[in-house]
Amino acid sequence: MNISTTYMGLELKNPLIVSSSRLTGDLKTVNQCLEAGASAIVLKSLFEEQIRMVAESKLWDGKDTDIYFWFPEAKEEVMGLAFEANLDNYLEFVKRVKSESDVPVISSINCVTDEGWPKFAAAIEEAGADALELNIAIFPFNASQDCKKIEDMHVDIVREVKKHVKIPVSVKLGYYFTNLCVLANRLVDSGADGLVLFNRYFRPDINIENLEVITDNYLSSPVESLVPMRWIALMTGNGLEADLVATTGVHDTRGVIKQILVGARAVQLCTTLYLNGIEVIRTIEQGLKRWMEDHGYESLDDFRGKSLERQTTDASFERVQYMKRDYE
Ligand SMILES: Cc1cc2nc3c(=O)[nH]c(=O)nc-3n(C[C@H](O)[C@H](O)[C@H](O)COP(=O)(O)O)c2cc1C
Repeated sequence: MNISTTYMGLELKNPLIVSSSRLTGDLKTVNQCLEAGASAIVLKSLFEEQIRMVAESKLWDGKDTDIYFWFPEAKEEVMGLAFEANLDNYLEFVKRVKSESDVPVISSINCVTDEGWPKFAAAIEEAGADALELNIAIFPFNASQDCKKIEDMHVDIVREVKKHVKIPVSVKLGYYFTNLCVLANRLVDSGADGLVLFNRYFRPDINIENLEVITDNYLSSPVESLVPMRWIALMTGNGLEADLVATTGVHDTRGVIKQILVGARAVQLCTTLYLNGIEVIRTIEQGLKRWMEDHGYESLDDFRGKSLERQTTDASFERVQYMKRDYE
């Protein structure tokens, strides 16, 4: 039984990648993921904004702020040093994980400045990461912001990063776009080797007793995996020339199989590790092998994209309205 796959040219022993989260920002839990059989690790994102904030707070912490008030150049200098120190910590972490891991290590970055993206990307490549995931999160909250400009920003980030690194680059996206397939093609044309669909951003909820906003709604449910599944189906069907990986709502063996059936190269797991423990990776792997055996498949390629064959006759992934026969 061969459950290996490739993703952006990386050889993966199985399709189970651990996605970026607190679990992949800590060496102990990273090692637990490796022991449980993860085929690649996406490290916790390096957030440029956070590094800048830490640099700022370090600058003022316990210091006589007047000194910096009168010497703005000194302020910049000290902030620059604190910024570099934090970046260095992250790069040390990349090196450490890489040295302890026998599977590909994918680093993830989220930046807020034009300089940040290529600078961090190059530093991460230098630190030895096998690939880079761009966690681009630009939201269409501003009513005066043109849709095309938002997409252009994504494209420019990919193009700029690709000028600075040789390792494969994927883009982890949300789905707040007008036409995702057009954007996907543009990203691939600008050099993206893979797309990770979709990031699950913070979703504020409300407690109707105290009227406060609930902020701890950070774990997904399996039904959410239907969204990436549909878009992976559509993009595969459209012949998108990039490796597609599913994230959000993939909790178990069934979830993994479904994503491969619509063309995914691999899946990323996060919530299920929090809910069921890191060892669930092994359980999912065994379940996948069992299912393949039961269905007579010897490799993932034997069934990858197989559910799209029906698509040519009933266009199920393109349907948006319910039909009477669906709910009667
Ligand atoms: C605690 C936590 C931290 C996360 N941190 C990051 C991050 O730093 N970068 C990122 O791209 N995604 C991050 N994510 C999103 C996950 O990588 C994943 O895409 C998302 O949770 C959906 O997958 P799931 O349904 O398997 O949880 C985080 C998720 C959680 C729950």
